[in-house]
Amino acid sequence: MVVPEPGLPTAVTIYEVGARDGLQNEKALVPVEVKEQFVRRLLAAGLPVVEATSFVHPTWVPQLADAAELMSRLGADGVDLPVLVPNERGLDRALELGLRHVAIFGSATETFARKNLNRSYDEQFAMFEPTVARALASGMDVRAYVSMCFGDPWEGAVPLDQVVRAGVRLLEMGASQLSLGDTIGVATAGHVTALVAALVDAGVGVDRLALHFHDTYGQALSNVQAGLRAGVTTYDASAGGLGGCPYAESATGNLATEDLVWLLTGLGIDHGVSLDALVATSTWMAGHLGRPSPSAVVRALGHGG
Ligand code: HMG
Ligand code: MG
Repeated sequence: MVVPEPGLPTAVTIYEVGARDGLQNEKALVPVEVKEQFVRRLLAAGLPVVEATSFVHPTWVPQLADAAELMSRLGADGVDLPVLVPNERGLDRALELGLRHVAIFGSATETFARKNLNRSYDEQFAMFEPTVARALASGMDVRAYVSMCFGDPWEGAVPLDQVVRAGVRLLEMGASQLSLGDTIGVATAGHVTALVAALVDAGVGVDRLALHFHDTYGQALSNVQAGLRAGVTTYDASAGGLGGCPYAESATGNLATEDLVWLLTGLGIDHGVSLDALVATSTWMAGHLGRPSPSAVVRALGHGG
C-alpha cells in the first residue's frame, strides 16, 4: 500500500553500485561476461545510473582488473556509465575508451586515505586535482565520494566539520555531486540529519548531495529516511545488498537496492525501477556467487533467476 509522507521529495535517483562496490569485495572472481550481463540487466530493470567498475590498480582490486574489457564489451551502453578513477593513470584508461562519467573517491580521515589510496590525507587531494581538472577539460562529468563520513574503524568517530572540509574541497575541484559514504555502516539517523545540515550550512546545495550507506548495523533504510526528510534525492544502493570495501575492516554489504525500492514505493516516491526485474537479477547473481542475497526484500520475493 502506498502511503506518502508529507514533505518528502516526490522523486529520487537511485545510483546503482552493485557491479562496482558489490563485486570489488567478492572473493570469487566473476567472469567478465557475467558482469556484462549483470550491468545490462540492471539497466533493463530501469536503474538510471549504474556504476560499472573501477580503473584502479589491478593488484589493489583484482576483482575489477577486467575493467577495460568490461567497458569495451558494454560498448555504446558503457560510455555513460560511471567508473571509479583514483588518479591520472585511471583517467587515461577511461579516456582511451571514450567514457564520459568518472568518480573520484577521497577519505575524510588520514588512516583510510593511506590504507585505500596509499596517500596521506593531503596527498590524496594533490592526486585528485590534476585528475579532475583533466576530466573536466575532456568534457567528463565527475562525481566525488568522501568515505568514512560517520566513523572510521581505526580513528573512531569522525567529527562533522572534518567531513565538511573534505567534501567541500572535493566539490571545489569541480565535482558535480558529493556522495557521503558510510563505509562501515555505523551511521544512525540523527547523525545523517546533522551531517547534511552541516554541509548545507557550509553552502553545499542539498541537490548536490548523495548518500551512500552500508548496512552493517541494519540502519541503512532508517538513514535513508533521515536523508529524505533532509531533502536529499540521490541514494547509492547495490542490487541484492552486495558489497563492501576491501580496504576497510568491517565494511559489509551496501544498502540493497531492492530494500530501497520497497521503501520508496511505499512512500509513493518515483524511482523508475522494476522491483521484479531487479529481484530476478539479484537472485540470478546470487546463483553465480554461490550464496543467497542478504537483502530482506530479495529473500521475501526471490524465487529463481
Ligand atoms: P600506488 O601503489 O601508490 O600507485 O597506488 P603509484 O601511483 O605509486 O603507481 C605505481 C604503479 O601503479 C605505476 O606503474 C602506475 O602506472 C600503476 P609502474 O610505473 O610501476 O609500472 N598505476 C595504475 N595502474 C592502473 N590503474 C591505475 C593505476 N594507478 C597507478 N589507476 C592507487 C595508488 C590509488 C593506484 C591504489 O592505492 C589504488 O588503486 N587504490 C584503489 C583502492 C580501491 O579501489 N578501493 C575501493 C574503492 S573505494 C570504496 O569502496 C569506498 C566507496 O564505496 C565509498 C564508501 O563506501 O565510503 C567509494
Ligand atoms: Mg562503498
